[in-house]
Amino acid sequence: MSDSKPFEGQVAVVTGAAQGLGLGFVEALAEMGATVIIGDLQVDVATAAAEALSAKGMTVSSGYLDVTDTEVVDEFFKQVNATHGSIDILVNNAGLGQTVTPSVELSDEEWEKVMNVNLYGTFKCCRAAARIMEQQESGCIVNISSINGQNPAPLVAAYNAAKAAVISLTRSLALELAAYGVRVNAVCPGPVYTDFNKQVMSQRCDALGINEDEMIERITKAIPLGRWGEPEDIAWSVVTLCHPRSSWITGEIVRVSGGLEGVGSAPPKRDA
Ligand SMILES: NC(=O)c1ccc[n+]([C@@H]2O[C@H](COP(=O)([O-])OP(=O)(O)OC[C@H]3O[C@@H](n4cnc5c(N)ncnc54)[C@H](O)[C@@H]3O)[C@@H](O)[C@H]2O)c1
Repeated sequence: MSDSKPFEGQVAVVTGAAQGLGLGFVEALAEMGATVIIGDLQVDVATAAAEALSAKGMTVSSGYLDVTDTEVVDEFFKQVNATHGSIDILVNNAGLGQTVTPSVELSDEEWEKVMNVNLYGTFKCCRAAARIMEQQESGCIVNISSINGQNPAPLVAAYNAAKAAVISLTRSLALELAAYGVRVNAVCPGPVYTDFNKQVMSQRCDALGINEDEMIERITKAIPLGRWGEPEDIAWSVVTLCHPRSSWITGEIVRVSGGLEGVGSAPPKRDA
């Protein structure tokens, strides 16, 4: 293992990596020598991203993946394993935000949509990859939770619950897969200004009657280290957990948030 290419010879899958944080993980892993496969609903965007990184000398490809569809998930991981000969790293990053809504007004459809992608999708990908990793007797899974999974924010209860469950799932799997030499950890990112975050922020701005700049400033002030996160900040924690030298780390939940523990205070009574 070379110090600059610790992932040389390793095959990594990153879900939901056509853009945003996931694409940052792809770049970091590929720069350090991994062969990376992006799995995303947005095939064209993922393909363009893979081509751009390949043009820089990295080994990145992409494929259609809907993490909520068991058949698609199982086939995706089977194909990656057949093509590349192993799956050494899985980063479960695919996720979506919840429409900012008081829980008493939250529809079944919204609850299910948020659970389906953020929790069941993570479970389905863990299950498919773990079957292969158990056979290999090696592998590393990193699940992307959120600071909301540890400290729930108001008005996004389904998202909070899904991300908290991802933490529990991570710890269950870390125990179940340890005998097979498979490590499972989770990262809880704080705010990074991706498409996902912009959508949630704009809804919170509407709810509070403030503009986007004021919201950005409020959050900046709440972050002990005084700035928003960048995709590279979160990517560093992912590569650290996947690094071969982290071989005694499993079942850990790592918060990467500039010290921010959670967002939001209790909202006032709604208008009658
Ligand atoms: N950005 C933040 O501030 C922040 C903070 C904490 C946690 N997170 C988590 O980080 C992860 C990435 O978020 P992001 O900010 O990069 O979001 P993003 O919206 O920029 O990217 C999410 C990606 O997931 C893909 N995706 C959505 N549903 C999918 C499905 N069913 N199957 C496959 N792919 C699917 C989308 O196509 C998109 O490419 C999410 O799990 C999110 O909850 C983000």
